[in-house]
Amino acid sequence: MGNPNRVKAESGFMRWVDDRFPATQMWQDHLSKYYAPKNFNFWYFFGSLALLVLVNQILTGVWLTMSYNPTAEGAFASVEYIMRDVEYGWLIRYMHSTGASAFFVVVYLHMFRGLLYGSYKAPRELVWIFGMTIYLSLMAEAFMGYLLPWGQMSYWGAQVIISLFSAIPVVGAELTQWIRGDYLISGITLNRFFALHVVALPIVILALVVLHLIALHEVGSNNPDGIEIKDKKDETGKPLDGIPFHPYYTVKDLFGVAVFLFVFCVVIFYFPEGGGYFLEKPNFEPSDPLKTPDHIAPVWYFTPFYAILRAVTFSLFGLDSKFWGVVLMGAAIAILFVLPWLDRSPVRSMRYKGWFSRIMLALFAVSFVILGVLGVLPATGGRTLVAQICTAVYFAFFLLMPIYTRLEKTKPVPERVTG
Ligand code: HEM
Repeated sequence: MGNPNRVKAESGFMRWVDDRFPATQMWQDHLSKYYAPKNFNFWYFFGSLALLVLVNQILTGVWLTMSYNPTAEGAFASVEYIMRDVEYGWLIRYMHSTGASAFFVVVYLHMFRGLLYGSYKAPRELVWIFGMTIYLSLMAEAFMGYLLPWGQMSYWGAQVIISLFSAIPVVGAELTQWIRGDYLISGITLNRFFALHVVALPIVILALVVLHLIALHEVGSNNPDGIEIKDKKDETGKPLDGIPFHPYYTVKDLFGVAVFLFVFCVVIFYFPEGGGYFLEKPNFEPSDPLKTPDHIAPVWYFTPFYAILRAVTFSLFGLDSKFWGVVLMGAAIAILFVLPWLDRSPVRSMRYKGWFSRIMLALFAVSFVILGVLGVLPATGGRTLVAQICTAVYFAFFLLMPIYTRLEKTKPVPERVTG
């Protein structure tokens, strides 16, 4: 019965299932006989942690939705109700709101690992592109989620970001109105953001994560040495430097999960608002369309891009600085998509790349952090100048990459994984 080419259990219930669904085959392909390089280090924890946080966001999100009221009249009060009256509502809400920040911490570290070990390089370009699409969807998901509590920063943050679309020539004004569904941000906007946040985007993100992992398992994981373990196999066809994902990495990842949960709990129980960085202070006031907060700043994970937007102070070709700011901000994200084609180095891992690549990556990471800090602070002349320098470094890292990765001297790559 079923597909005779599949691996199947000998007998019993699993045999019954295998004749109808390739359960044993899938278990082997993706876990017990999926050979992963044996030299995974600290940086390889973040993929499984991203999965964990995703599950946390979905579960806590579903429970929040049970008590949340997606209307301009009721949203703020329903969040207060969740925090004060719903049993453990405060915990569910903090797991979700702090979980959003945790998601970005984990995903940024996960992406940095890719930069460090050249995981985006052939044949893993699609793994990277699916990852980038996840990142983009995650930003949209977080942005829409932040409107839902209908606090002052929800309202005014959304106002600033949605109005960016008005910088687009010709169609800008109409597009902005189309996104809001109204002449200003209103209950209509809140309603559609709710639909997108709880239904549409989670489906997109889940589907993308599945594609991300299918693409990864098709080509196999990279590793800190950036060498292909499939090139050296034993007589049975198993990679010499590979170990079965299960039980070795399932157990190792569980250790990462334990450490993560410990840190996550400390934050949730002692610093759930992250000092105003995870939940900003003005968001504890109900939204007021007639009262603009003194200082509007996005949540920390968006601020590097916000700082790039504000760093543009010039107008060009008759288009104002807001337009070019939006262009540069979009380009800062778009350029990451083409990274696999910018890196021309013969080696993958930073361990064997030259000094130029190492210095550029370090400068890039420092600039990204500085931009993130600047994006939370009100702009001043001096800060804008620093943001401009950091923006230049950010783009130089990518745009000069085809040159420095080709010119620099790389170290010889070992035959087998080290460590
Ligand atoms: C919801 C978000 C995400 C989840 C659940 C997720 C999940 C995973 C998992 C489980 C792995 C294998 C374990 C590991 O290598 O750490 C992985 C690998 C990878 N991910 Fe993600 N990922 C996410 C977002 C991203 C993003 C945003 C990027 C980059 C733009 C990305 C790029 C990669 C790459 C390049 C690899 C292969 C790494 C290697 O083999 O060295 N991922 N991902």
